[in-house]
Amino acid sequence: MKKKKTLFPAFVLIAALGLSLALFSPVASSDALAEGENLLQNRCTSCHGAGKITRAKKDRNGWERTVRRMEQKGVQLTDAERSLLIHYLATSYGK
Ligand code: HEC
Repeated sequence: MKKKKTLFPAFVLIAALGLSLALFSPVASSDALAEGENLLQNRCTSCHGAGKITRAKKDRNGWERTVRRMEQKGVQLTDAERSLLIHYLATSYGK
């Protein structure tokens, strides 16, 4: 019984720590970037290498135009995938 009482504060501390990590970690935005990188590797490298893309520097509008142009050449993207990819490109290869 006595042991239980002394363990209680430690448990509360760990729970509070876990909660604050869950609230403040930027997991959502890094997931979006990882998803964008996957899309680049899977959808954009069949006609030319990734280097053609990673060497380029464009602002968000520039990447939007480029991705639309590549879609006319045959790239398949849903609206959600297109915005993830453009977000990733503009963040990683912006100017
Ligand atoms: C169906 C084949 C094909 C696929 C798939 C493709 N591209 Fe391209 N891409 C081309 C061709 C052909 C060129 C060179 C001619 C041109 O620029 O229009 C090119 C050129 C480029 C360039 C250099 C020219 C510029 O506008 O800066 C970039 C950057 C680029 N592609 C990005 C992408 C991205 C991002 C994707 C994925 C969404 C992608 N490409 C997928 C065919 C493709």
